[in-house]
Amino acid sequence: MFRAWIVFLGMGMLIGLVGCDSEPSSENVSEILKENARKKAEYLEKGNQIAKASFEALSGKLKNTIATDGIEGAIRTCNIHASPLVDSLSNEYGATIKRTSLKIRNEVNSPSPDEKHILKLYSRAKDANETLMPIVLLDSNWVSFYSPILVKPICLNCHGEPNQDLDISTIDLLRSMYPTDRAYGYKEDELRGIWSIKFESD
Ligand code: HEC
Repeated sequence: MFRAWIVFLGMGMLIGLVGCDSEPSSENVSEILKENARKKAEYLEKGNQIAKASFEALSGKLKNTIATDGIEGAIRTCNIHASPLVDSLSNEYGATIKRTSLKIRNEVNSPSPDEKHILKLYSRAKDANETLMPIVLLDSNWVSFYSPILVKPICLNCHGEPNQDLDISTIDLLRSMYPTDRAYGYKEDELRGIWSIKFESD
């Protein structure tokens, strides 16, 4: 069975590993690599489009709710609305859409072993000051797309330093809703987590 993996990381670096049961001819290899390159571009575009739509839906909702109900109102809404918003986009795009992190607030967002691996890769790349590019992993049936989520000033209201960016009452509310919360203490531009998006390959 033919399996192809495409990995993008860093400055457009491409590692293509092709494994086959029988040795392909050199002509076949070049066709396979060309096909990989075409699909890679297509899947990357689709993943980016879904991540962008999800981010815009969530941050639009967040901004509006902070404006009308304040930070604590938004925390309550975030808890209720993050999943349904993302679920409706999942249906629209025929994909599973997840946000995850090495320091999570809500246990339901815990990373899988694969996601943990990707999070650590991004975290190392960020420490080394590299530009974080999306990653596309492809097998014969599924595309896994990952892209980084960085901390913006607005995020500090709920993910920043306790007693500095977060009011005591906000900390109390978060503690009561998420007793195992570790998603605070972030600074602007730090890696907060990743989008993990999966859809069927064609
Ligand atoms: C009003 C408070 C608030 C603000 C502002 C906020 N978040 Fe969150 N964030 C939350 C809550 C509450 C959760 C848990 C949501 C849930 O139940 O899934 C969460 C969860 C997350 C998660 C999922 C992983 C986890 O820890 O459970 C990510 C990633 C995330 N936030 C990133 C961001 C980013 C990036 C920003 C800024 C653009 C931001 N947040 C702004 C309250 C907030």
